[in-house]
Amino acid sequence: MRKDFLWGGAVAAHQVEGGFNEGGKGPNVSDMMTVGSATTRRKITKTIEPDQFYPNHTAIDFYHHYKEDIALFKEMGFKCFRTSISWARIFPMGDEETPNEEGLKFYDDMFDELLKNGIQPVITLSHFEMPYHLVEKYGGWRNRKMITFFVRFAKVCFERYHNKVKYWMTFNEINNQANYEADVAVFTNSGIIFEEGEDKERTVYQAAHYELVASAMAIKEGHAIDPSMMIGCMIAMTTIYPYSCNPDDMLKAVGANHKRFWYMDVHARGRYPGYMKSFFERKNFNLDITEEDLAVLPQGTVDYIGFSYYMSFAVKGDGDVNLDYNEETDLCDNPYISKTEWGWPIDAKGLRYSLNWMYDRYNLPLFIVENGFGAVDQMVDGKVHDQYRIDYLKAHIEEMKNAVDIDGVDLLGYTVWGCIDCVSFGTGEMKKRYGFIYVDKDNAGQGTLARSKKDSFEWYKKVIESNGEKL
Ligand code: BG6
Repeated sequence: MRKDFLWGGAVAAHQVEGGFNEGGKGPNVSDMMTVGSATTRRKITKTIEPDQFYPNHTAIDFYHHYKEDIALFKEMGFKCFRTSISWARIFPMGDEETPNEEGLKFYDDMFDELLKNGIQPVITLSHFEMPYHLVEKYGGWRNRKMITFFVRFAKVCFERYHNKVKYWMTFNEINNQANYEADVAVFTNSGIIFEEGEDKERTVYQAAHYELVASAMAIKEGHAIDPSMMIGCMIAMTTIYPYSCNPDDMLKAVGANHKRFWYMDVHARGRYPGYMKSFFERKNFNLDITEEDLAVLPQGTVDYIGFSYYMSFAVKGDGDVNLDYNEETDLCDNPYISKTEWGWPIDAKGLRYSLNWMYDRYNLPLFIVENGFGAVDQMVDGKVHDQYRIDYLKAHIEEMKNAVDIDGVDLLGYTVWGCIDCVSFGTGEMKKRYGFIYVDKDNAGQGTLARSKKDSFEWYKKVIESNGEKL
């Protein structure tokens, strides 16, 4: 592995910070989501209801504990720490002209603390934290005006922090909206609440187009402010295998991967791929895509591809000549791999496969900005013995090293998701834990918030110390 490889951990502001109405912050989309479970979906409420529990309001109170937490990251030897800037801390309503100084100051202080400890901040601009006011007043990303609001926010952040932050990403897991029927993903990515009877598919493609234009404009502005900043995208890399070598399965996987990853084509190449142009025509979507939009895309292509990797998917051919893909109905089980308690397929070799696939396709540096194992941890005599987490991470790091050392992939770094226990995005639970650091808090929000080291803490420390040699 390269000497300057960026080992570290990752979280997102809304899953750790808490302090939801402190420092002048406005409510964001994640603040409107109640707690759920593996079997019960989180509810999206239009106002904050007093009899409901909203886990992101308090989270693990990183807002007040960040110094203590950063000291633990330093002890593990982190070279970098990925988090997001909570948009509604900077622009509480989202459509103001002037940012909230108290919010900006919070991130200045936190970044200083990281840098003082030799840890580079790696920052996502939009990680499910758009101001809720933008949903109410503008309908979220169904509205072109969002481009102006996002680019203004991005510019303020680049101008303020370019001396402190080198690595940036625009939209977290923009491509999870490939599942246009997933209400929660569409709400958290795009601030869209569907109306009765609307064509969800068209709505989501329109929103994604505006986001891709906004991303390109933000990158262009960022590079003008400081060309040394590396600004990337962030893709949920759930590679889609054909179920078998039956040509129908093979072709179905081609179509499915197109629908899941065209976002990356636009981010990296600055133009729409032919298969998407013909798809839009065939569907008669009549999207609002202007000549000016198409002209700006190549001016803001990404410097690297950041991605999360947790799992792979599989599909079987169904004879559809158009190779259309509906993520709600088209996936099938892969008999060669197991699953986590939350039904997430575990496939370490899929990480090597994905790294190769992306590097072959784009020839851009890659950055694994999320990978991790969500599990129920038990405290035994005051300590969590999480060998299962070590096993999962070890297997993935081995495959990552194969991709770098044997296949020659250019990889910037690796950040373990939820390096400190945090609120699960999907379920809002605390018990779906990913951390090296245990946080004493339960699903109902009870606990002392005390931090303690799990077995994986010492293990990861050695991994970093040995630059991935001691697994
Ligand atoms: C990714 C997100 O989808 O996966 C994170 O970027 C999220 O925000 C992570 O937390 C793990 O998902 P979950 O639902 O287990 O928290």
